[in-house]
Amino acid sequence: MKTRASFVCQNCGAVTQRWQGRCESCGAWNSILEENAASGIGAQAARGAQKGRVFELMGLGDATTPSAPRMLTGIAEFDRVSGGGFVPGSVLLLGGEPGIGKSTLLIQACALLAKQGQRVVYISGEEAVDQVRLRAERLGLSKTPVELAAETSVEDILATLSHGRRPALVVIDSIQTMWTQSVESAPGTVTQVRGSAQALIRFAKTTGATVILVGHVTKDGQIAGPRVVEHMVDAVISFEGEGGRDVRILRAVKNRFGPTDEIGVFEMTGKGLGEVTNPSALFLSARDAAAPGTAVFAGMEGTRPLLIEIQALVAASSLGTPRRAVVGWDTNRLAMVIAVLEAHAGLKLGQNDIYLNVAGGLRVSEPAADLAAAAALISSLTGVTLPSTSVFFGEIGLSGAIRPVAHTLPRLKEAMKLGFARAITPQEAPGQGRSAAQTIEVSSCSHISALVAEIARMRGRAGKSAQGG
Ligand code: TYD
Ligand code: MG
Repeated sequence: MKTRASFVCQNCGAVTQRWQGRCESCGAWNSILEENAASGIGAQAARGAQKGRVFELMGLGDATTPSAPRMLTGIAEFDRVSGGGFVPGSVLLLGGEPGIGKSTLLIQACALLAKQGQRVVYISGEEAVDQVRLRAERLGLSKTPVELAAETSVEDILATLSHGRRPALVVIDSIQTMWTQSVESAPGTVTQVRGSAQALIRFAKTTGATVILVGHVTKDGQIAGPRVVEHMVDAVISFEGEGGRDVRILRAVKNRFGPTDEIGVFEMTGKGLGEVTNPSALFLSARDAAAPGTAVFAGMEGTRPLLIEIQALVAASSLGTPRRAVVGWDTNRLAMVIAVLEAHAGLKLGQNDIYLNVAGGLRVSEPAADLAAAAALISSLTGVTLPSTSVFFGEIGLSGAIRPVAHTLPRLKEAMKLGFARAITPQEAPGQGRSAAQTIEVSSCSHISALVAEIARMRGRAGKSAQGG
């Protein structure tokens, strides 16, 4: 059989017949490498048997084996993001930049599961066994029965795992360091990573063990190289952090067995990753409440309410085309809110540079943040400091109407719990959510112009109290 070389993009896995400087599929530069086509995925099938095996089809409703219960690590922030524990036989990809704390989080989870009596195996392809041990010792986990090895050969790993009791959890740290004999490409290539992942996924499906693959992520947030692996696994979880701060956010990007809007918040300490059970307090603690341009948004991250500070800076522009820069929010939504403020509230923002930042390195995707963003923009433009005891939430429509959003009650309760006295909200059907929130004053606005008037009144109040004092 003729062996033909083909060229595979190491970023997205696209195959071309010629070498190119830039991948046509994903646009990455210098990402195309020559690989041996006859050794790639599916090559075996092409070479091998023509006749297939006949298998039995099953009905959708047929009860087969009762499904094993999910495995809870006991790290609540991790369990929530995984959708309520690990599903037996599933494969999870944990992505994150080097040094963010992936290995730390996983060794902590492994130790807790091993303590419950589960067989847990941690395979490190990057660190020596002693290094992993040293870290566990530092975390006070060295007495736990986690089985360790420093290995990179997938065949050797699978052969070893087939001995003894079936493992409940296998951690592969990282998938980029693994290589399999089933494909001939050089270690580290996309074909190797994909082949290794495939073998490990097959192992998980056939044995019912949960497999966690660690994947390194490049600066622009892609899981480096094995982006293809994302499609093969059951869940993709990313571990993120902001430079200079110790806060780490675990986020489900894809999950076949749970929701994808949950986040888990951790803090890196000298004793490993600590859970942050009250993230609102953490994100608001560094707040500079006395400055104009900041508004507190009562948001929801999955099932949990979270108070988030939104900062805006509106400044006169010296450029022909004013600058717009957004961190943690959607640029298009900012453009929309600006347009609505101009068209329906008569504010002049068009000739200003506008910066919007979500504090604490969080990313907000809820439309309910519109009202807080608008309040921060108005505050910065007019120089009126918003009262530090107010929260905002509501979606803004193109007509300037402020539309109700879901989960009013948990948002109000979270604000109350953290000592906020007032909430600026959309207008709602009477009684909804209000009755239970007696200790917080709710001002509802039905239109963006009402928000502008509300903020103007705040200036009046601030002026009066200044005179009084
Ligand atoms: P690590 O888990 O090795 O990151 P990854 O596997 O994602 O590359 O974490 C490494 C960083 O975490 C390193 O900079 C040191 C820091 N760290 C702590 O601050 N405290 C600790 O208890 C541990 C174990 C690590
Ligand atoms: Mg690591």
